[in-house]
Amino acid sequence: MKALITAGGQGTRLRPITYTINKHLFPIANKPMIFHALEKVAAAGVKEVGININEGDKELPSVVGSGKKFGVKITYLEQKGGALGLAHIIKNAADWIGKDDLLFYLGDNIVSADLKSLIDKFYREKLDCLLTLSKVRDPKRFGVPIIKKNRITKVEEKPQNPKSDFAVTGIYVYRPVIIEATKKIKSSKRGEFEISDAHTYLINKGCKVGYEEITGWWKDTGKPEDLLEGNSLILNTLRGYDVPFKNLKEEWKIEGAVKVGKGTKFKGNVVLRGPVVIGENCIIEDSCIDPYTSIGDRVEISKTEVSHSIVCDDVKIKDCGVRIVDSLLGRNSIVKAQGHTLPSGHKLIIGDNAQVEL
Ligand code: G1P
Repeated sequence: MKALITAGGQGTRLRPITYTINKHLFPIANKPMIFHALEKVAAAGVKEVGININEGDKELPSVVGSGKKFGVKITYLEQKGGALGLAHIIKNAADWIGKDDLLFYLGDNIVSADLKSLIDKFYREKLDCLLTLSKVRDPKRFGVPIIKKNRITKVEEKPQNPKSDFAVTGIYVYRPVIIEATKKIKSSKRGEFEISDAHTYLINKGCKVGYEEITGWWKDTGKPEDLLEGNSLILNTLRGYDVPFKNLKEEWKIEGAVKVGKGTKFKGNVVLRGPVVIGENCIIEDSCIDPYTSIGDRVEISKTEVSHSIVCDDVKIKDCGVRIVDSLLGRNSIVKAQGHTLPSGHKLIIGDNAQVEL
C-alpha cells in the first residue's frame, strides 16, 4: 500500500498567516501540520508516500525532505493544471499509484486514531474503499454519507440538507479502482472533481464501500479557532514532564504535561500549566503559560500571560501585562507594551487580512 498526502492549495481562509507559509507547514503542537500526517502514515507501516504539491512549490519539499526521518520514501507530485479538486489529485497521481492500494490522507486533517486498524479492516472485509466518518456539528461543510441499513448508498458533497450528522473525514483507503472513478466523474458546479462523486461512482458500480467511525479527528476548516482546536487535540496526547533543567527553582511552578526544548531559559517567576510545549532557545521571564499553548523556537516572553494560543518561531511578547488568549502569532511578530510615549493609544502595524481584538 502507498500513501498519498495532499499539501497543495492556497490556504486563502488562513490569511495573513498563509501569505508567507504553506498552511501544511503551520505548526501544530510545534510541528509542521503535515508532519503529523507523515508520522501517522509511517506508524501504520506504509513506506512509500506521495505528496501532492502546487506546481512549482519548492518550500514544502525543502522542509519535509526525502522522508528518511519518518522512515518513508517521499515522491513529490506537482498537481498539473491547478487545484481542481481531490479526485483530480488522485487522477494526477495515477502513474505513481500504479496498481497499488492507496491510503489517501488530506494533509490538513489530523487524527488521533490509529490508521493500522483501518487498513486491517479494509483487508479483512475485502473492501474496495473504506471511508472514515466522524460526527460533526456542521455537516454542510463536508462530504456527507447517506446510510441505509448500515451501508453507504451515496455521498453528497457539502449538501444544503445533510441526510446524516456524519462527515466523511479526509482519510480514505482504496483499491486501484479509485483511479477509474476519478477519471469517469465530471467536474462539479464549483469546478472541482469531487472525491464524494468518485465515492458515489464506486457505490453505483457495485464496489464494496465500507466505513468506520473515528474519534479524535480534526480538520482545518480555515479559521484561527480551528487551528487552535487541532493544537489542543495534539497537546491532549502529550504525557509527562520533559524539561531541560536539572533543578527547578522555587519561583517556577510547573503543572501538568509539559515539554520544553533545550537551551530554553526561565527567569524570575514562571508558571507553566500544561499541556504546553515550548521550543528551543526561548527566554520566558516573569510570565505564565496556560493550557493548550504551543510556543516555537527562539521566542521571548516577559511579564505576560499566554493562554490557548499558538506562538510561532522568533516571536517577542514583551511586558504586555495583559493576558493573550486564543491567538495565533506568526513568525517574527512582536507584541509589546506601549510604553509611556504620547499620544496614548494602541500602535498597530498589521499586514493585509490580519485580525486584532482589543
Ligand atoms: C474535502 C472533501 C469533503 C471532506 C473533507 C474532509 O472538503 O471534499 O468531502 O469531507 O475534505 O476534510 P474540502 O476540504 O474541499 O472543503
